[in-house]
Amino acid sequence: MCGIVGYIGCNQAAPILLEGLTKLEYRGYDSAGLAVCDGTRIHVSKCKGRLKVLSELTKGGETLKGTLGIGHTRWATHGAPSDTNSHPHYNTNETIAVVHNGIIENYNKIKSRLCEKGYRFQSETDTEVIVQLLDRYYTGDPLAAISKIMTKLEGSYALGIIFKDYPDELYAVRRDNPLIVGVSEEGNFIASDVPAILKYTRKVFYVENGEIVRLTREGTQFFNSDLEHLAKEASIVEWDMAAAEKGGYEHFMLKEIYEQPKAVKDTLHPRIKDGKIVIDELNMNEDDIRKLEKIFIVACGSAYHAGMTGKYVIEDLARIPVEVDLASEFRYRNPIYPKNTLTIIISQSGETADSLAALREAKKNNCRVLGIVNVVGSSIAREADNVMYTWAGPEIAVATTKAYSTQLTAMYLLALHFAWIRQTLDRDKYDALLKELLSIPGRIEDIIKKNTTEIQYIASKFVAVRDCFFIGRGNDYSAALEGSLKLKEISYIHSEAYPAGELKHGPIALIEEGTLVIGLLTQEKLNKKTASNIVEVKSRGAFILSITCEGDEEADRISDLVIKIPAVDRHFTISLSVIILQLIAYYIAACKGIDLDKPRNLAKSVTVE
Ligand code: G6P
Repeated sequence: MCGIVGYIGCNQAAPILLEGLTKLEYRGYDSAGLAVCDGTRIHVSKCKGRLKVLSELTKGGETLKGTLGIGHTRWATHGAPSDTNSHPHYNTNETIAVVHNGIIENYNKIKSRLCEKGYRFQSETDTEVIVQLLDRYYTGDPLAAISKIMTKLEGSYALGIIFKDYPDELYAVRRDNPLIVGVSEEGNFIASDVPAILKYTRKVFYVENGEIVRLTREGTQFFNSDLEHLAKEASIVEWDMAAAEKGGYEHFMLKEIYEQPKAVKDTLHPRIKDGKIVIDELNMNEDDIRKLEKIFIVACGSAYHAGMTGKYVIEDLARIPVEVDLASEFRYRNPIYPKNTLTIIISQSGETADSLAALREAKKNNCRVLGIVNVVGSSIAREADNVMYTWAGPEIAVATTKAYSTQLTAMYLLALHFAWIRQTLDRDKYDALLKELLSIPGRIEDIIKKNTTEIQYIASKFVAVRDCFFIGRGNDYSAALEGSLKLKEISYIHSEAYPAGELKHGPIALIEEGTLVIGLLTQEKLNKKTASNIVEVKSRGAFILSITCEGDEEADRISDLVIKIPAVDRHFTISLSVIILQLIAYYIAACKGIDLDKPRNLAKSVTVE
């Protein structure tokens, strides 16, 4: 989604803003722009397309002089990607400039009122309404104007604002859209995400909903919407730049695939003490866990797929009923919460708008909320009752890999922990499963080492494929969903995932000579059933690639190609099969020459509904 960077300091702002924006490119965008104040005027440069175009337009920022500025990468919502719709937006007199992330839901109403008062609009965006509204209420006091428009705007926003009259001040405000403030010797910053400012500082303030910030060259002041001063404590970001750089890999996605053994280990190991799982951050005592009547798992995208695995493993091992929901559905469906219910929100970014709204819904219903989140200090992490962090480190590629793998790990940890407390597993079984779980990082590493060359070859064969089906049963179906999403989002090949048993109820009509079907057969008890479904599509001309465990000979007989993963306990096979699926998607997209870290139309962190 859109990215914001703002700077006030002693250095020229434009090159710093451009550099900061490149660090936010991963969020997904289609246009970019800068506004810089030189003390007497605000100059805006903006254009459709990649940051390279903006950089050329401004000669690397040189044409925009000034030490105060705001920058933006836009992911179009209201109005197509175009030079005019790009941010920053001006008021008519060009005395105020604004960059905005989020959506103003009542912008049409405000726009009509402003038009009646004689305001004229250049763009089709909701953002232009904000700057014209500021113009209407500005009488020389920026804070007063900002707090006034907050009472008028509905929807979500993170804003960076500069006023021509105040060349020594940068303003920011947010509601339901992430924003941080960074402070350093080099100057002070606002940004929608940490990587944009990591080169300059690790000392950040997380701006809370409804807070307004005034940044000067000397420092920062925080206010609530009544303009009362707020005291805030800075946090120190633990990541370093290297973690957010490509480090010799061709793409972030490949780097992140290779980082999975470490990410899974880092999520797993701190929670194992003396041969037992200990999850202190759950803050639930044994009685709370025993009394659990129901769990909701709510998430979007791949995090939702991790939640599906959560359902399989928690129900199977701990015998607690689990419902998994897409956050965009859950937030509007009025679910029933039995007395002892736990809602788990899974999110890499911790900022996904629908997941955050689902969290608030659950809390409104007095339900305990556990966040499973990767980004420390993100909105979901802050608003959940308790947070279990997935220690994947910064994930930059739009298509998630390592964060998803750590989310699976969190699901296994919870399932085993709950099962142990509820005594649905005996000690031997518990020990055996824990041993298997601890072997997963090493096995992921082996798979990457052993299978990459073969997968590169297979991928080169599938580059021209137009349609692909992923099928599986049980937990293999959840892997199929994730494999299919990976393939379509980065290679643009049409793909669908189906529970193998559902094929006959429609999708089989689409199978013709050469259609690629990827079958997942890692669930011993279900493999025979899935194998029958594979035979059905093969006899209608499908080309079959099966992924199965070592020792399973059935797949060899019915498939055109087979990739084998080590045989681990069936609850955890998805952590291995998904590595194969990620590599297949990656190498197909790479063969097609796609800019796969920033696939078209997609955003890393979806902060609008
Ligand atoms: C976007 C990303 C997906 C991600 C989903 C949920 O669609 O492209 O990779 O799974 O959002 O994001 P979250 O940050 O909540 O896990």
